Amino acid sequence: MPDIHAPTKNQSTVRTLLRLWPYVRPVRTRLFSAAFIAVLASCLGLLIPLVLKWIVDGPVSDGDPGGVWLGALVLLLLGVAEALLFGLRRWLVARPLAGVEAAMRADLYRHVQRLPVSFHDRWPSGQLLSRGTTDLSLVRMFLAFPLTFLLVNAVTILVGFVILLSQEWTLGLVLIVPVVPLVGLCSLFETRYSLAARRAQDQVGDLTTLVEESVLGVRIIKGFGRHRSQARAFGSLARELRGTELHKARLLAALWGVITAIPELAIGAALVLGTVRVADGGLSAGTLVAFLSTALALRWPVDSIGFLLAMSQEAGTATERFFEVLDEPLPAPSLNPPGVGGGKGGLPGATPPDPHAGPAAPAPRLRGSAPDPAPQTPEGLEMPRGAGNCATSHTQPADENLGIRFHHVAFRYPDAPSDSPPLLSEIDLHIRSGETMAIVGGTGSGKTTLTALVPRLYEATGGRITLDGVDIAGMPRDELRALVAVAFEEPTLFSASVGENVLMGGGDTDDLDRALDVAQAGFVRELPHGVETQVGEQGLSLSGGQRQRLALARAVVGRPRFLVLDDPLSALDVHTEARVEAALRDVLRETTALVVAHRPSTVMLADRVALLSGGRIAAVGTHQELLRSNAEYAWLMSGAGDEGEER
Ligand SMILES: Nc1ncnc2c1ncn2[C@@H]1O[C@H](COP(=O)(O)OP(=O)(O)OP(=O)(O)O)[C@@H](O)[C@H]1O
Ligand SMILES: [Mg+2]
Repeated sequence: MPDIHAPTKNQSTVRTLLRLWPYVRPVRTRLFSAAFIAVLASCLGLLIPLVLKWIVDGPVSDGDPGGVWLGALVLLLLGVAEALLFGLRRWLVARPLAGVEAAMRADLYRHVQRLPVSFHDRWPSGQLLSRGTTDLSLVRMFLAFPLTFLLVNAVTILVGFVILLSQEWTLGLVLIVPVVPLVGLCSLFETRYSLAARRAQDQVGDLTTLVEESVLGVRIIKGFGRHRSQARAFGSLARELRGTELHKARLLAALWGVITAIPELAIGAALVLGTVRVADGGLSAGTLVAFLSTALALRWPVDSIGFLLAMSQEAGTATERFFEVLDEPLPAPSLNPPGVGGGKGGLPGATPPDPHAGPAAPAPRLRGSAPDPAPQTPEGLEMPRGAGNCATSHTQPADENLGIRFHHVAFRYPDAPSDSPPLLSEIDLHIRSGETMAIVGGTGSGKTTLTALVPRLYEATGGRITLDGVDIAGMPRDELRALVAVAFEEPTLFSASVGENVLMGGGDTDDLDRALDVAQAGFVRELPHGVETQVGEQGLSLSGGQRQRLALARAVVGRPRFLVLDDPLSALDVHTEARVEAALRDVLRETTALVVAHRPSTVMLADRVALLSGGRIAAVGTHQELLRSNAEYAWLMSGAGDEGEER
């Protein structure tokens, strides 16, 4: 597992920040114009001391009040122009930079959605959240402010020094000498601050994870009275973060102290030297005034370098953290047509259109050399959505290729210890077209893992899986996932209406009613707004059994060609279970299904049963056959001990 708390390579901040270019490119004209305007405004400010010099050496020493008024008017105009130009700069960058942030966030979200489940197993969600929020704001702030002002300040300081040297080069040198130690100091600061910034941003991620877990797991925490230990864990993480932030503040304070003190000393020295020169008559009073006010005008550009560098460091770290996620390779070359997201990732409202919505939609074509599995009825109405009509396939001669086939499939989790044996090996299984196969096995035997291989939530590490003869590895993901519908052990509902949650599985309003009937989810109609009722985060406002029934409805609503159910009835009472089973039987007749079963009643839904044991399919047969011939199966089904408990 890569350490997500440390930069993988020691890249320079500038190199990291340069990676932002593709995002900045579309707004480059505005950004460059804004920077140019800011440089102009800042240099206008530098004209003020020159006007002062003219006033002091001209009208003031000549006693000409008219000239002073004119000088004052010029000063006022310069000030107003400077303010207007800075205002214009802000207006120019605000909107495009919000767009840059939005584009980066959209890319991150899209990438996170498309990354394989194994990535999400490794990455704490808080780390992703903080990268998508805090870090991206830091990047936007950097583009809006430090990026421009580091340039503006550099140009201003340069122009300022040229003016200073041209006024009086000896005094100018007095001011320039301290720049050398300042540059060295800044580079030392950069290295140390960059490490601290990285640590702080990672700690924000960890803290976000903890807060998220505590909120989602609030029932467990309360139920076990763990709020104190949870608060302690939070307190210690928050303290660590505070320590890092204080460390950052100390570094910045030290830099700022030196950055402000050294120029002050230099200006003081120049003042003494200049006064002596004016007294000697070697320098005009106006020149000294102009010199000192230029030096003072340069104070802000110099002073601000400290926090501009700090903000740039943070933005560099944020960019690095952003690209750490974006650089995670996507599973396989995506065969998805552009614009269609793979999988069922997005929230209901945002999901791409279901390719099979509407009765006239063509059935998805499987690629490869597979025979066309089944013809469509002329109306195309009554058949299951998917590649073939399973109702008719019952009457067709059995085809070796039809259905789901596992060919020598092996699997090991990417993060499993390298010396451990594969979790699944030599899995050979054929679920014939239209057949329902139950998977039975002890807890932790790999049933969930096996089912997750079919929609390619994980990639099999050996062998291949075919659907109606077509290798799923070569199938576009969206096509595969339109063919295969799933319901998992832990039913997740999104913050959306009940109807939207169920229709994530495809289908239309008519299908919705049918699916709710199949899943015996009639309770939905009693909810305050029926299917329009919003269910809370993860459907917390519904009971476990209710959620499970909605998840089941979601799996069957699109009349999938292949159905994968991971113990879909575990949370139901016996009566509801019996009713769901009765209704489910009709659905199972129409599709090819793989159903993980823990209890005999669920097994009864299946035509045949496969026993998973020791990472292999130990036996396949009907329930009765296995009961008679296989002791382990008989034991698992006997209810001896708690169901599913490890022996
Ligand atoms: N994401 C993962 N990374 C690494 N190992 C995992 C992961 N998920 C599960 N495992 C391990 O794989 C094994 C099989 O898990 P799986 O969830 O497939 O079991 P199961 O048969 O479905 O169990 P149950 O009957 O309890 O649902 C377990 O030992 C588990 O610890
Ligand atoms: Mg399981």
